[in-house]
Amino acid sequence: MSASPQRKKKFGSRFDEELRFFKGWMDGPKAVGAIIPTSSITARRMASVVNPASGLPVLELGPGTGVITKAILERGVKPEKLTAIEYSSEFFAHLQQHYPGVNLINGDAFDLDKTLGDEGKTQFDSVISAVPLLNFPVPERVAYIEKLLARIPSGRPVIQITYGPKSPVPSGKGDYTVEHFDFVLRNIPPAQLWIYRRASA
Ligand SMILES: C[S@@+](CC[C@H](N)C(=O)[O-])C[C@H]1O[C@@H](n2cnc3c(N)ncnc32)[C@H](O)[C@@H]1O
Repeated sequence: MSASPQRKKKFGSRFDEELRFFKGWMDGPKAVGAIIPTSSITARRMASVVNPASGLPVLELGPGTGVITKAILERGVKPEKLTAIEYSSEFFAHLQQHYPGVNLINGDAFDLDKTLGDEGKTQFDSVISAVPLLNFPVPERVAYIEKLLARIPSGRPVIQITYGPKSPVPSGKGDYTVEHFDFVLRNIPPAQLWIYRRASA
C-alpha cells in the first residue's frame, strides 16, 4: 500500500527540515547543539507555558527551523506578538519565508538589550529558549537566565531545553528558582525541559 499524497508531503517537508537542520549543524555544531529538529511533542510542551491571554508579547530564542515557533503560534499567540531571535543567517532566512508577521531578529540572544534595541524596556509574558547553553561557562549561563528574568513579570517562566541530565543553570547562583518541567523521550536526543522563575516573587 502506498502512502497518501498528504502523508508523502508531510514526510517530504519533515525531511527538508531535517536536512536544513543538519546543514546548519555542519556549519556550526556548537551553536546548533542537537542534530535533529525539536520534535513537535517537545515543542508543544514548551509552548504550553505561554499565556496568550496576558496581552504581553512572547520571546523565543534559537528558533532554528521554527518547530517551536509553530507551536507557540498554535497556542494562540498572534504572529505580531511573537519576537524570535535566531543567530544563524540561514535559519533566519528560512524563518522569514515560513513565519511572515513574526518579529524575527537575526542576532545574539546573549546580547539581549543590543539585539532587541529597546534599552531593556520590552516586557514579555514568558521566554522559550532552545539556545544551547552547555558550551558556555556556568557564570554566562546564569547571566543569560538573569537577563531573561528581568524581561518578564515575577512568577512567569523562562523555559529551556537541554539534553544533559542536570539543569544547565544550577540553583543557588542567583535570584531564581529551578524546576524540572518534563523529560520528553520522543525527541532525538531525549530532551529535558527546565523552568526558571524569579525567587523573590
Ligand atoms: C538546538 S537548536 C534548536 C532549534 C529549533 N528549536 C529547532 O528545533 O529547529 C539551537 C538553535 O539556537 C540557535 N542559536 C545558537 N546560539 C544562539 C544565540 N546566541 N542567539 C540566538 N540563537 C542562537 C542556533 O542557530 C539553532 O537554531
